[in-house]
Amino acid sequence: MLGRVLLGLSGSERMRNLVERAPISRGIVARFIAGDETADVVRAAADLASAGLTATIDHLGEDTLDRAQAERVADAYVELLAGLRDAGLTEVAEVSVKLSAVGQALPGDGEKIALDNAREICRAAADAGTTVTLDMEDHTTTDSTLAIAAELRGDFPSTGIALQTYLYRTEDDCRRLSGSGSRVRLCKGAYDEPVDVAYQDKADVDRSYVRCMKILLGGQGYPLIATHDPRLIEIAGSLAARYRREQGTYEYQMLYGVRPDEQRRLTQAGETVRVYVPYGHEWYGYMMRRLAERPANVMFFLRALASKR
Ligand code: FDA
Repeated sequence: MLGRVLLGLSGSERMRNLVERAPISRGIVARFIAGDETADVVRAAADLASAGLTATIDHLGEDTLDRAQAERVADAYVELLAGLRDAGLTEVAEVSVKLSAVGQALPGDGEKIALDNAREICRAAADAGTTVTLDMEDHTTTDSTLAIAAELRGDFPSTGIALQTYLYRTEDDCRRLSGSGSRVRLCKGAYDEPVDVAYQDKADVDRSYVRCMKILLGGQGYPLIATHDPRLIEIAGSLAARYRREQGTYEYQMLYGVRPDEQRRLTQAGETVRVYVPYGHEWYGYMMRRLAERPANVMFFLRALASKR
């Protein structure tokens, strides 16, 4: 219930202005977001690398409704990739891109603008020696995002894509994308979706996650298991053994600031673990989705607010 309210507020402009300006927000946000500037996130990626962790970096921003802004986001990624290359981090750090941040939601030829901007980012990533994974947003964008991913993979075959197991369609999408060379990031899904497209019950989402893992780990691609759920992580380990997957032929992914002990434990057990590291000024939508996922995070936020009074 609280989660639904928070997801609703994640789209509210008025709430965004209020929360972004609250002085306390900065402190809380620092737990989940690596900073505002390229240099901040390059430093965070270097710190993760020294702990044996890899990274995928997200320049925060979504639902861009202005073409110039979409191009500025693409430029920010190009600058970020140059920063990662100069710091010698492109073997351990890639980038994650939300297509809505690079123009997908623009009226008219938004899809083409997003494709052009994403292609520029993929080119910069390839030149720097790394790759791109496309985030998946709400279900109205799934077909468009898959179509753009297919186009990009024509030129940049290592481009990855996130799929969400709360959607009924995702098992079929996993089947289509489990071939050699594919990189699918499997996550439960973070948007408030209607019953005609998505499972509403957590147990159903988890069961779908297991079915999708079987398809991906049993397939020929490189699955990216993106979850903090201890049960699903354990099942992933058993399935990897069942399908005779060597460590390094799949990876675990978790969010920056979430279950850092588990990130280290898996790394020490020889697994590849990639941390999703967001940075930038536009942290509101991302933060609200993290709060919606876990009531304990809301308490953390409220306690911090109270302690400042
Ligand atoms: P779930 O939320 O059920 O949590 C299981 C357990 O994990 C909890 O009981 C708790 O122990 C721990 N936990 C989970 N979240 C926590 C938090 N915020 N703080 C502390 N503990 C927490 N979604 C999407 O729609 N599109 C996308 O492209 C992506 N991309 C993406 C990349 C990566 C690397 C990750 C890890 C996640 C995403 N997501 C996403 C988000 C994803 O869909 C989902 O909302 C969150 O990962 C939370 O789901 P869990 O699988 O962690 O399980």
